[in-house]
Amino acid sequence: MDLKQIEIQALEEIEKINNPEELEKFKIKYLGRKGELTAVLRSLKDLPLDERKKHGQEANKFRSELEELIKQKQEELSAQGLAYRQAGGSRLAGQTTQLDITAPGMILPHGHLHPLTQVLRQAEEIFGSMGFEVVEGPDIETEYYNFDALNFPKDHPARDAWDTFWLKSDKLLLRTHTSPMQIRYMEKNNPPLRIIVPGRTFRYEATDASHSHTFYQLEGLMVGKDISVANFKAVIEEFLKKLFKQNLEVRLRPSYFPFVEPGFEVDVKGGKFKNWLEIMGAGMVHPNVFNAVGYNPSDWQGFAFGMGLDRIAMLKYGIDDIRLFYSGDLRFLKQF
Ligand code: FA5
Repeated sequence: MDLKQIEIQALEEIEKINNPEELEKFKIKYLGRKGELTAVLRSLKDLPLDERKKHGQEANKFRSELEELIKQKQEELSAQGLAYRQAGGSRLAGQTTQLDITAPGMILPHGHLHPLTQVLRQAEEIFGSMGFEVVEGPDIETEYYNFDALNFPKDHPARDAWDTFWLKSDKLLLRTHTSPMQIRYMEKNNPPLRIIVPGRTFRYEATDASHSHTFYQLEGLMVGKDISVANFKAVIEEFLKKLFKQNLEVRLRPSYFPFVEPGFEVDVKGGKFKNWLEIMGAGMVHPNVFNAVGYNPSDWQGFAFGMGLDRIAMLKYGIDDIRLFYSGDLRFLKQF
């Protein structure tokens, strides 16, 4: 084959090459010891001097060109292979990719749990270790479970303390607290029992740094024989100690909720919290609530509490505005 033909053929072939193995074969075919271009170069010596000079120049020029083309192809192929591996691929069709273990690794973007979810998971674990089972209930409630069965008298001003989002359909509402699950659970289960009910709650109220129209509560209910306020205090102290990893002072302040008697609000103080902070409502289950679910109030006692999970998370992480949790602002969320 003469040089011109070899050139045409080689240029056509290298154009089609798309993997390193083919390129290696190509190199051997033309530039190897028995390669086609090598053969041409070898045969130069048999030519008359003037032809040898002319052909020699042409053949050597082509060899340099070919070497340059091979180099370019090599770079092109390794760039493709790297891009492919970085895009997450490990195999190219018909090609074995070579893994360059010295290439810098790719940082895969990854997310993490929302700070509220993190606090919720920790709370579930801590209460779980004290024998509380996690149950969940519906966001849309009936007036019966949200108010009536919880001993809210009809037309009593206490109902107004919970500014309610009413739905258009009759007597349905967005639950204003997680307490309705006390009723739903006790209707279907016999005492003794220990549950926590985390969930989203809704109130038709103006938002500010510590109030949101949508927020999370974590309800707790423990019913048994001889359950007293002392049991409640011990459970809550243990919870706070484990969650905040420091000893906080706990204070019960008398308060009114129709579904407990006595009722109180719980404040904490300690560590970086210099003033008392209110974190939950609580109390001993009211006999009328036990009656509503068919438990005999002279046989059973219990305590219940409803804590604001957002407030707990704010305390734990030192966040001063509840609205940040719902802003979806990644600059905020990435800090947790
Ligand atoms: C209740 O919702 C009662 N169901 C709690 C309860 C349960 C009492 C069982 C007795 C027995 P209260 O409205 O105080 O109570 O709300 C409880 C907690 O939810 C508050 O201490 C606060 O931490 C949180 N909370 C209330 N409203 C908001 C709001 N708009 N935004 C954020 N957190 C709130």
